[in-house]
Amino acid sequence: MDSLLASLTMSKKTDDPASVLLSVGGLVGQEVNLDAFLHQVVDRVAASMQADRGTLYLVDYPRAELFSRAAHLPEIKQIRLKLGQGVAGAVAQSGAPVNIPSTKDEARFNPDIDKMTGYRTTSLLAVALRDTAGDVFGVLQVLNRLGGGRFDGDDEKKLTEIAAQVSQALQATSLYTELKRARARPEQPVGYFFNKVIGESAPMKAIYKVVQKAAQTDATVLLRGESGTGKELFARAVHVNSRRRDKPFVKVDCAALPGSLIENELFGHERGAFTGAEQRQMGKFEVAEGGTVFIDELGELPLPVQGKLLRVLQDREFERVGGTQTVRVDVRIVAATHRDLAQMVREGKFREDLYYRIKVVELMLPPLRDRGPEDLERIARHFIATSTRKHHVAQEPRLSTPALDRLKSYQWPGNVRELENCIESAVVLCDGDILPEHLPLPETSRLPAPPVTLAANDHETVVPLAEVERRHILSVLERADGNRTLAAKWLGIGRNTLGRKLKEYGLAE
Ligand SMILES: Nc1ncnc2c1ncn2[C@@H]1O[C@H](COP(=O)(O)OP(=O)(O)OP(=O)(O)O)[C@@H](O)[C@H]1O
Ligand SMILES: [Mg+2]
Repeated sequence: MDSLLASLTMSKKTDDPASVLLSVGGLVGQEVNLDAFLHQVVDRVAASMQADRGTLYLVDYPRAELFSRAAHLPEIKQIRLKLGQGVAGAVAQSGAPVNIPSTKDEARFNPDIDKMTGYRTTSLLAVALRDTAGDVFGVLQVLNRLGGGRFDGDDEKKLTEIAAQVSQALQATSLYTELKRARARPEQPVGYFFNKVIGESAPMKAIYKVVQKAAQTDATVLLRGESGTGKELFARAVHVNSRRRDKPFVKVDCAALPGSLIENELFGHERGAFTGAEQRQMGKFEVAEGGTVFIDELGELPLPVQGKLLRVLQDREFERVGGTQTVRVDVRIVAATHRDLAQMVREGKFREDLYYRIKVVELMLPPLRDRGPEDLERIARHFIATSTRKHHVAQEPRLSTPALDRLKSYQWPGNVRELENCIESAVVLCDGDILPEHLPLPETSRLPAPPVTLAANDHETVVPLAEVERRHILSVLERADGNRTLAAKWLGIGRNTLGRKLKEYGLAE
């Protein structure tokens, strides 16, 4: 983030049209901080234009909508407008700048957006963001000239120049690539909500693809993976990438409730269903009408309730607890578990018919250690940026090379959540630089992982290739009595390569 902001330098003279300089180079490979970066850009543009606020909209052509990537309204996550709606919508459609010196009695100004955001706009200036091909892909807008003034022709010229620089910088990001791709292939709309999910490794990309595809259907999705691998994050991604995104996303955590209450939680009850049931109460399925129900820790769902859930999956209907009237719902179901449901079926703890109904689309989220060192670094840097903001740390700490190496050599049994906590505490404890001693990790990473049986006909226990390599290296190293030169020779690789692999697999002392 530091280097990123350094690349966005502002001269002292705020009336200098070149006062917001963006280095395209500075953005490449910094995707992780894109959101934070855009906020900074918009902040600086607003300051430079002597405006109270700024907003950056991007155009989602397949949906004929604009969405704000950096709304200068912390209380609102995202604003969506129709192409042509409001001033920004008009600018996106025509490509021509719009200057509204005063919103009073101004026909072009649409007060609906103020109603939506609660912000009162008095003056406004908006210009288009164009790519090198000249196509409009966004709108940069500033609101309310400070001191109650008006934006004039010079301001318009200046904002146009700034927009050209912002456009240039944005074109180096995958956000732009995604907008462009969606425009070319409208059947797959913008997956902009993946912005919160970090990771570009092959296994993660494969997952984005499936999520994107599955999200557009009503198919039931089962998310599996170790603790902290992002099951909930992806459950939300399925929802927000679906046509149900404006309807509720309701979570039911089966592990957090005693078995006896889960049925009530999911299906609600009728008045008098049990002592204390003084009123009819809706369950989560009814609350989520039109939206998505996320059943977390599905493996903890009591057997009797499993049958009732199966009926919802098959017929989208059920009866409230203590009721006879059938309730029909239109919901999409996403479930998650860290348990091996197939094994539970074999043990008679999970209904087989439900198991097959629920895993229409099954996603196995890889543990962090299998996502490769690049993803680990990306995610770590992302958390440094978010923790810096969260704890109001004045200057974003630098991640030292030894600390990064330490992160890379650790096995992360708690996955992304553990990394998040680890970074958060390091950001708070460190003093400018994150050093290995700031990372709350065990002294040395443990050696071999417990052996896993290789059963070729059972897809659940197939060992990833990297794991096979790791174990092979280990056993050779053992036979060579820890002599790396000898082990490398036996393995037919260079000593440095062996050293790198040992580090990669968390086997280096
Ligand atoms: N790929 C990712 N990019 C960014 N943040 C992530 C990613 N994966 C997980 N996280 C973050 O890590 C934390 C744990 O994720 P989440 O709660 O989705 O995991 P989980 O699989 O549901 O874990 P558990 O099984 O323990 O409930 C969250 O704060 C989430 O935002
Ligand atoms: Mg979870």
